[in-house]
Amino acid sequence: MKFIHILVLFISVLFNQVLSLNILGVFPYQGKSHFLLFAPYLKELANRGHNLTVISHFPQEKPIQNYHDISLAGKTKIFEDVFPVYRSYWTIFQIGFFLMNTGSDNCVTLLEDENVQNLWKSKAKFDLVLVEQFNTDCALGLAHVLGAPVVGLTSHVLCPWHYEVYGVQYNPAYVANVFLEGGTKPTLFQRIERTIFHNYFIYLYKFTCRRNNENALAQYFDNVPPLEELARNIKFLLLYTNFPLSGPGLFPPNVREVGGYHVAKPKELPKELKKFIDESEHGVIYISFGSMLRATSMPQDKLEAIMEAVSQLPQRIVFKWEEKILPGNPKNIYISNWLPQNDILAHPNVLVFYSHCGMLGTTEAIHHGVPLLGMPIFGDQPSNAASVEESGLGVQIQFKELTAKLLSEKLKIVLNPEFRRKVKELSRIWHDRPQSAMDSAIYWTEFAARTSNYSFATPASSIPLYQYRSWDVIAVLGSILFAILYSVKQTISLLTKSKTQQNKRKLKKK
Ligand SMILES: *[C@@H]1O[C@H](CO)[C@@H](O)[C@H](O)[C@H]1NC(C)=O
Ligand SMILES: *[C@@H]1O[C@H](CO)[C@@H](O)[C@H](O)[C@H]1NC(C)=O
Repeated sequence: MKFIHILVLFISVLFNQVLSLNILGVFPYQGKSHFLLFAPYLKELANRGHNLTVISHFPQEKPIQNYHDISLAGKTKIFEDVFPVYRSYWTIFQIGFFLMNTGSDNCVTLLEDENVQNLWKSKAKFDLVLVEQFNTDCALGLAHVLGAPVVGLTSHVLCPWHYEVYGVQYNPAYVANVFLEGGTKPTLFQRIERTIFHNYFIYLYKFTCRRNNENALAQYFDNVPPLEELARNIKFLLLYTNFPLSGPGLFPPNVREVGGYHVAKPKELPKELKKFIDESEHGVIYISFGSMLRATSMPQDKLEAIMEAVSQLPQRIVFKWEEKILPGNPKNIYISNWLPQNDILAHPNVLVFYSHCGMLGTTEAIHHGVPLLGMPIFGDQPSNAASVEESGLGVQIQFKELTAKLLSEKLKIVLNPEFRRKVKELSRIWHDRPQSAMDSAIYWTEFAARTSNYSFATPASSIPLYQYRSWDVIAVLGSILFAILYSVKQTISLLTKSKTQQNKRKLKKK
């Protein structure tokens, strides 16, 4: 018996060693919410015996076995609590410029870093490079130089410039635009908006960020292929969605939905907060607009509307609020500038989550089955909020329409026990998968390394646009049709001409 145990142990150790991959993760974007989402997956890869080297702005505070940081911390300002609670067309245009500028700057910061330079100078060998798919493809150049296959990661739905390179069809008739309102059943107006903004973002990305990144790479390397070409060669994309929430999407086999892996096992709440929630007779409404939005920059009338609506309710309120006091000093409110969101949402007394619909919070809400009242502001929040409403996870309210009356109505809907029962059911469906989200993310990462000599990308990602859209076929068939119609017309006019000539001759004879 003992011998068998030792043998099993020996084999599993051996097996693990065979499977152990040397992985480089490159995260040049400094948004904290993005990295918070990826971190559990990176740590789990290390935990399962892979050797991780992670370039990011967020080094681990305590050393983790198999996890090595290359820190960019301090090189760029971290985005947290900096965005005002406001959205308009102008802010959407601005998001475009903001993303392109940071995408361009982050590439320079990445390539300038001495420790990053040591990687390519020492010709480090990696089995796989993990690259965040957001506002820069700079790291694809680095992966190319290191000669390693790439797995892409997102912390949100696809951005406009991703569809083409992954061969995912973008059709404004049923595919939401990440930055806009509206889900799978848009109005004509929304389809026009989508068409304009989809193209705006694609061309902006092509001609600013991607070009700047290529120029930055050219300062260090000769012969890096165009980044668009490298993007088409990404082996797998781990997309942070899952269809019970985000709806059915048409994805090729190398685009995997792995939404949900960041949600940790809930921990015990801090004492005071636990008491506040435990002792709530009628339950709790949790309000948070995330780590990127400053609730204190909210216009006074909107804040008053929120306070008025929630003060009429018997529920207690837990509010992420950056200041010490709230206008009107309402009772029954627990305020703090930092709250353990996942642990709060896991508490059975929490009835509603009033949120800006960031991907982290939305995922945690469906994970724990807490009805959501979404008030999207910017980035991917409008399309997340549309998914929340369509999936039945919650309802949404647009910030510009926010009044105490409307908010009360919406809260009434999500506080309804029948609504909550359906959300619990949706949450069960969310968890009902052949593998957990984490296992699935790790599985496809390892699969990508094992099969790196193969491509499972759809041909739609590499065939020229004129073929993809069948313009050449239309041109050929159109020419034939034109030729036929033209000859028919000629024949008819010849016939009618000869007829009139005959008639003329007849007339002359008379
Ligand atoms: C693991 O990564 C570290 C840091 O990049 C590197 O120094 C080390 O050689 C790697 N180990 C293996 C076994 O590849
Ligand atoms: C891919 O092919 C090369 C050359 O045939 C081989 O050396 C390598 O081990 C293969 N990689 C994998 C992951 O099978």
